[in-house]
Amino acid sequence: MVFTRGGRAVHALDRIGFEVADGAFVAIVGPSGCGKSTLLKLVAGLRQPTKGRITLYGRPVQGPRADVGIVFQSPVLLPWRTVIGNVMLPIDVLGLDRPSHRTKARELLALVGLAGFEEAYPQELSGGMQQRAAIARALVYDAPLLMMDEPFGALDAMTREQMNLEVQRIWSASGKTVVFITHSIPEAVFLADRIVVMSPRPGRVLSIIDNAAPRPRGLDDMSLPEFNRLVREIRQLLGSQGEAGGPH
Ligand SMILES: Nc1ncnc2c1ncn2[C@@H]1O[C@H](COP(=O)(O)OP(=O)(O)O)[C@@H](O)[C@H]1O
Ligand SMILES: [Mg+2]
Repeated sequence: MVFTRGGRAVHALDRIGFEVADGAFVAIVGPSGCGKSTLLKLVAGLRQPTKGRITLYGRPVQGPRADVGIVFQSPVLLPWRTVIGNVMLPIDVLGLDRPSHRTKARELLALVGLAGFEEAYPQELSGGMQQRAAIARALVYDAPLLMMDEPFGALDAMTREQMNLEVQRIWSASGKTVVFITHSIPEAVFLADRIVVMSPRPGRVLSIIDNAAPRPRGLDDMSLPEFNRLVREIRQLLGSQGEAGGPH
């Protein structure tokens, strides 16, 4: 993927190739600017690659599609819509049946811990609650693939740990495939079965690391030797790539 900015070519991604098994939890970790968000936008059909091809469920990606749910780094909720109104947004955009999806939206808000906040407005929620509403919105049209782009980057460490537990719970309850982008190595290891480690720009796949630790994983598992071994291995792969090597 090559961008042009001010007449200068920015080579964002190069020879990216990896497969994601159905129902798997895959994390993509790499330094800032290595092309993680670009990769997500390519897979979701929000951008076209300058070269190469992306296939999803056997179909080439040609434009935005209803089989991918996306959670962006900031929750981007519409301030004039209630929480449930925001969760229903994709249903309105895709022109799907409102009554059945409204029931679904309520169930999802309960699943992400927002029961009772259906009629609240985004500005009445904390950052973590807004992000959970954004997760419910990404789940409401039941896409089999959920892609999350550094969804907890703006949260404090404690809220972030709680959200990691939440995401693990939602993933095991929904049976979806999750691709989770982060620049936090411990977060990637905690959440994923498989971690795709990317190089600095132009982003390439440096290595793919499996984490077979049993589920559900608890926060205490982060002090296990095997957890720390994986974190160290990825940190060494990334070398001194700045923030990618740091803590949350
Ligand atoms: N629309 C764009 N136009 C020009 N350059 C871009 C655009 N989007 C991203 N880039 C560049 O592509 C590279 C990868 O960006 P991005 O995918 O956002 O990285 P990451 O998400 O890993 O931090 C960066 O150097 C960024 O500046
Ligand atoms: Mg990004």
